Amino acid sequence: MVTIIASTNRPGSSTLQLAQYYQKRLAQKGLKTNLLSLTELPDNLIKTDLYGKRSQEFEKIQQLITNTDKFLFVIPEYNGSFPGVLKVFIDACSFPESFYEKKAALVGLSSGKYGNIRGIDHFTGVCHYIHLNVMPLKIHISSIKKEFNESGDIIPEDTLRYTEEQMDKFIKF
Ligand SMILES: Cc1cc2nc3c(=O)[nH]c(=O)nc-3n(C[C@H](O)[C@H](O)[C@H](O)COP(=O)(O)O)c2cc1C
Repeated sequence: MVTIIASTNRPGSSTLQLAQYYQKRLAQKGLKTNLLSLTELPDNLIKTDLYGKRSQEFEKIQQLITNTDKFLFVIPEYNGSFPGVLKVFIDACSFPESFYEKKAALVGLSSGKYGNIRGIDHFTGVCHYIHLNVMPLKIHISSIKKEFNESGDIIPEDTLRYTEEQMDKFIKF
């Protein structure tokens, strides 16, 4: 099973828009995926699901994660790194069955110039620690607001080339 994770809980995020774009293109290439947006996390997650606790609401998400072999994380740049809610989510997931010896591809985005290069590096370190094998081709999309047309499709040719290459490699990964 393959799951795309839109790695912020900010309502109306470009991250979710980009994750939906990846889901659509992967489906067109023949790969069925689930999409988990971190907006779906329980509001009270830091009280209900850390340090051995488990809520019914999170249990459904845990089942999805446990049953997933391959992840695609779409990760926005927040204060020069990945969002804190993504780390809380990883900390809340059961160890080792959530991510251990599984596979992941990473996509960074930002409204600024750098496309979350540093946050993707930081998150790669976390992935390695939990033995989640990261696909070498990582994508960094800067100035995200200029990337989509009205139908939610990516328009710049260079972004299209890199995202298509990443998706094709992810399917084979
Ligand atoms: C808390 C927070 C911190 C942010 N920090 C940065 C930053 O360090 N660099 C940057 O280019 N954009 C930053 N942004 C803007 C995001 O990159 C921008 O909102 C982009 O659309 C991706 O985030 P989104 O998925 O929440 O829309 C920040 C946004 C938020 C909400």
